[in-house]
Amino acid sequence: MTTTDVNKADPQAAEALLGRMFGAALGAAELFTIYLGDRHGIYQAIGANGPITASELAERTGLDHRYLVEWLQSQAISGLLTIDGTDVWTDRFELAPGVREALLEPSSPFYAGGLAAIVPATGRAFPQLVEAFRTGAGVPYTAYGEEAVQAQEALNRPAYVNSLATEWVPAVPGLHDVLSAGARVADLGTGAGWSAIELAKAYPAVQVDGYDNDEDSISRARRNAAEQGVAHRVDFEVRDITAVAAGGPQYDVVTFFECLHDLAHPVEALTAARTALAPGGSVIVMDERADEVLTAPGDEVQRFLAAASTIWCTPQGLVDEDSDVVGAIMRPDQLRHLAGHAGYGTVDVLPIEHPFWRFYRLNP
Ligand SMILES: C[S@@+](CC[C@H](N)C(=O)[O-])C[C@H]1O[C@@H](n2cnc3c(N)ncnc32)[C@H](O)[C@@H]1O
Repeated sequence: MTTTDVNKADPQAAEALLGRMFGAALGAAELFTIYLGDRHGIYQAIGANGPITASELAERTGLDHRYLVEWLQSQAISGLLTIDGTDVWTDRFELAPGVREALLEPSSPFYAGGLAAIVPATGRAFPQLVEAFRTGAGVPYTAYGEEAVQAQEALNRPAYVNSLATEWVPAVPGLHDVLSAGARVADLGTGAGWSAIELAKAYPAVQVDGYDNDEDSISRARRNAAEQGVAHRVDFEVRDITAVAAGGPQYDVVTFFECLHDLAHPVEALTAARTALAPGGSVIVMDERADEVLTAPGDEVQRFLAAASTIWCTPQGLVDEDSDVVGAIMRPDQLRHLAGHAGYGTVDVLPIEHPFWRFYRLNP
């Protein structure tokens, strides 16, 4: 393409981009309203008490009537609520089909509450992120606030609850037998702990140690384990991932669920995991399903990963000055390269199909 081509007016392309940006603005604005509904338990209250008027809802929730009227109107117009008339002040609202599964049931495979929490979380960190583009500094996970941990937990929990033990483990040769026999597992970068908890629930002889350096995540993980009745077999500690090597070769399985690409020092983390493996053990990595080579423009999944990497993963991984963070576009070749540097012999891409994730087994 020549400079002249670049500068040539292209009203059709501009109009298409304008339309796309309007769609994006609409989506972002609606996500904020969805987050408000989720945060204040409004969908919950409507689900439990609907069909309901704005005044009744204000009484039930203790929320401001005027704000509720505006919110209810927005939800009806966007199709998340139904209204049995045309007067938002007096008519009754009910949840639209699908809203219960998508917004009220955190372990439903259709749960989408996490997507709504990403927006306010990013908003909190945004002033630091804008500045970081000039300074090169990282933006710590804690800068994204409590909504970040909430978003992370909400995004991944449904898959761990619905797929980890029933689909993913059986697709890894030999793993079911190892876990059934009572393996020791280290779950690195465990976040709110759902991967560790679901493994412990499915395999009653398994013992899991969850490592994460974020205090808020670990306190949620401990609470979740207690609520799920597995706290006696799942131990969560605030620790850097590299601490896994401290006890020597003691784990039959070490897992990195959607965290390797976020780490400031992925090779050190992989090396520590290898050191922690008992003889015959292996490392399982679940990470983003980035295309094997760059395709530009990419599809919606690649667009989401690339944007999230820019505003979320990479800034968080840049917290150390000598960071080697990869970011969410971690292609299989890059993972193989990291594993090679960390001393692994081979890397298998596992036969698990998922729109967002790819699974690997690293063999020492
Ligand atoms: C994208 S989240 C994934 C959390 C969880 N595995 C999940 O699937 O929901 C990445 C996690 O890695 C943790 N983390 C990042 N760097 C870490 C480090 N050096 N040591 C321990 N945890 C780390 C973060 O605190 C965060 O909880």
